[in-house]
Amino acid sequence: MHYILCKDDNWTSILKKELTADFTKDCYVLKGFPLIKLPAETNLKDGYIAFSSTALIDAALVPDNSVSKQAAEIMADLSSKIEPGSKINCHVFGLTEKYGILETGRAEIISGKVTQALKKKNIHCPRKGFDRTLGFLQILILPNRSVAVSFIKKEDLASYQSLISPFAGGFSNVGDDLKAPSRAFKKLIEAQEVMGIKISETDIVVDLGACPGGWTYVARKSGAKVIALDRSPLAKELMEDKLVIFKKEDAFKFEVKEPVDWVVSDIVCAPERILELINYWAVEKKCKNFVFTIKFKGHQDYGLLKKFKNIAKEVDYNVILKQLNVNKNEVTIMGTQY
Ligand SMILES: C[S@@+](CC[C@H](N)C(=O)[O-])C[C@H]1O[C@@H](n2cnc3c(N)ncnc32)[C@H](O)[C@@H]1O
Repeated sequence: MHYILCKDDNWTSILKKELTADFTKDCYVLKGFPLIKLPAETNLKDGYIAFSSTALIDAALVPDNSVSKQAAEIMADLSSKIEPGSKINCHVFGLTEKYGILETGRAEIISGKVTQALKKKNIHCPRKGFDRTLGFLQILILPNRSVAVSFIKKEDLASYQSLISPFAGGFSNVGDDLKAPSRAFKKLIEAQEVMGIKISETDIVVDLGACPGGWTYVARKSGAKVIALDRSPLAKELMEDKLVIFKKEDAFKFEVKEPVDWVVSDIVCAPERILELINYWAVEKKCKNFVFTIKFKGHQDYGLLKKFKNIAKEVDYNVILKQLNVNKNEVTIMGTQY
């Protein structure tokens, strides 16, 4: 089975509609939980599921038992899949009604036992961070205490990059920053973590629809130079910053002579307009990286995601399409040039 998680149970029915439209009608919803199971034969390779927070691909199910017996069964399942002497990413979490949490209760005990058993085989799981060049083990403790175990080999990780998450259970919690001019700053922080790439001080960032300046603030904190466009000015400190060039211009008409390092947009507009941005910035390769939020009005227009998924496969960028934890009724499309 594949286990697809979403942000919280408010999004389960929307996730189900997306899975039904794109993959299979054979979706099993775990009532009251943000989880949908799909038959293992459903081909999710190189797929996009905008409302998936993370996914356990082709997971084995270990029935309820003592934690020691479950840990032993998990190890038996993994023995032929992970090479001794390797390093892997490892997330162990329990499913709650809201989201998966790492290392609470049973998950913590199973994590300890499995990590020890892996160490004996000289298989190591870095405690922090997520390395996209390594294999990925996910262990999910289900509400009935059975356990789903998924391992994606390092060679296959790129094919599932948009479905999985560098955060255990797909849950990230960007801390507050009282100096940021808006809470929207969290979106750009989370997007960089999901992409596994950070804005650097030598970068030029174009921030479309930048007011009051949360995203510009994040880029400036990384030391980058920012070209910020909006009809309204940014917060005073950013307007006075010599490395912020503010332009009172229409973001959809803005063009660059030379490609830039990043273009980011949090503009409130119809989703079709973000396709225009992708056509200019990504199809014409005017940037190395992009981050665009796609905002929905009500629950219509999710069907338009199909267009984004199609274009994601066509452009010369490594594209991730995801509802970030900080996204409300919106998803984020992110890309890094190959
Ligand atoms: C949600 S806010 C952006 C928040 C910002 N990312 C932050 O972190 O503070 C959207 C902004 O897009 C701007 N906007 C909408 N349409 C625009 C357009 N055609 N050109 C430039 N800015 C536009 C709005 O004026 C608004 O300030």
